[in-house]
Amino acid sequence: MIKLPERMAGVPPYLYAEMDKVIQEARNSGKEIINIAHGDPDLMPPQEVIEELSHRAGKPGAQLYPPYWGLIELREDIARWMGKRFGVELSPEDEIMILIGAKEGLTHLYTALCDRGDYALIPDPAYPTYKTSVIFAEGMVHYFGLKQENDFLPELKEITKNLHKKTKLMIINYPNNPTTKKGDITFFKELVSFCRRHNIYLIHDNPYSEIYETDPPPSILQVDGAKDIAVELHSFSKTFNMQGYRIGWICGNKDMIKALAVVKTNTDSGIFLPIQYAAIKALELYETFVPGLREIYKKRRKIVQGYLEKIGWQYYRSDSTIYVWTRMDERFKDSMKFVIGLIKEKGVMIGPGAGYGRYGEGYLRFSLTQPEEKLRTGMERFLEFVNP
Ligand SMILES: Cc1ncc(COP(=O)(O)O)c(C=O)c1O
Repeated sequence: MIKLPERMAGVPPYLYAEMDKVIQEARNSGKEIINIAHGDPDLMPPQEVIEELSHRAGKPGAQLYPPYWGLIELREDIARWMGKRFGVELSPEDEIMILIGAKEGLTHLYTALCDRGDYALIPDPAYPTYKTSVIFAEGMVHYFGLKQENDFLPELKEITKNLHKKTKLMIINYPNNPTTKKGDITFFKELVSFCRRHNIYLIHDNPYSEIYETDPPPSILQVDGAKDIAVELHSFSKTFNMQGYRIGWICGNKDMIKALAVVKTNTDSGIFLPIQYAAIKALELYETFVPGLREIYKKRRKIVQGYLEKIGWQYYRSDSTIYVWTRMDERFKDSMKFVIGLIKEKGVMIGPGAGYGRYGEGYLRFSLTQPEEKLRTGMERFLEFVNP
């Protein structure tokens, strides 16, 4: 048996490990499982993207090692897109780098920017990768709670009181997973000024920026001076249903990106060129493809919200992300226990709030990644479980 290094001991167990076991048992007993837990879109990427990928894969040269920073044509297109969408000006040469998905960039950023023992400010609840990236690089995790009474925003006054002298970076994510809270530019301005004052690098993880009904969510880079201390991560995963393609980008502060490039050039060798051409095609189709996608999520969101209203559960009112975040009613305190019970009895999977952190306890996350009919069936069964 291999003895794992000490730093691995801090890695929390895989969120869905216990659930996976129960799911397998439920399947073995002949139950059909409806998965409204995972943020893994069921919808296809645009047809032209699929065609571009397969066409490019057959061309001579497709197999070559790709450029480390990503194709310059793709970075130029991203610069244009960021300009049009957010009014943010970026140099494709040194302010944009292509990633193997936002997750990969996040994982390597802490290593790139921090010494061993440096602190990172991490939200709770949050996407679990924020914490593990710090642990892998032997850093220290300093949580800030995202509480409903504060509209799921960080309390900067509280953070300032407990700020450690070795705090090097802060990660935020709006539109937020799991709470679905959208960011706003007033808060972003406060945050940029806070990070500048305290010499903290700011990382804004922004993969849900295009999934909304009204009022497009902002970029942190819209704030004057943000580029001095901040980077933003974007993804093709949710905007174009290209999650398995593994492609995204980081943009903003060039020194932070240059530091990340040191890790990446020594870790991976870029992204398969046909995938990068497929991403160029996807951006070309943004205006025609994404509005339809938003409509689909809008309808699915209404379905889930409608069922929660029937039982009087207080879901967080948001028109963004591919999730619905709700408080459970008083009878249910332990979200993992609730979810395990739901799988066993009804064959439905939902994300337990506790899986995203301490402040997630008492909440559930529904994912809108199933067709309407399946979503309805899942929600019917959920209702039967809550009110037998
Ligand atoms: C908040 C957040 N960041 C990053 C990611 C990962 O994005 P990508 O597929 O680009 O690695 C996810 C995926 O669910 C996410 O929810």
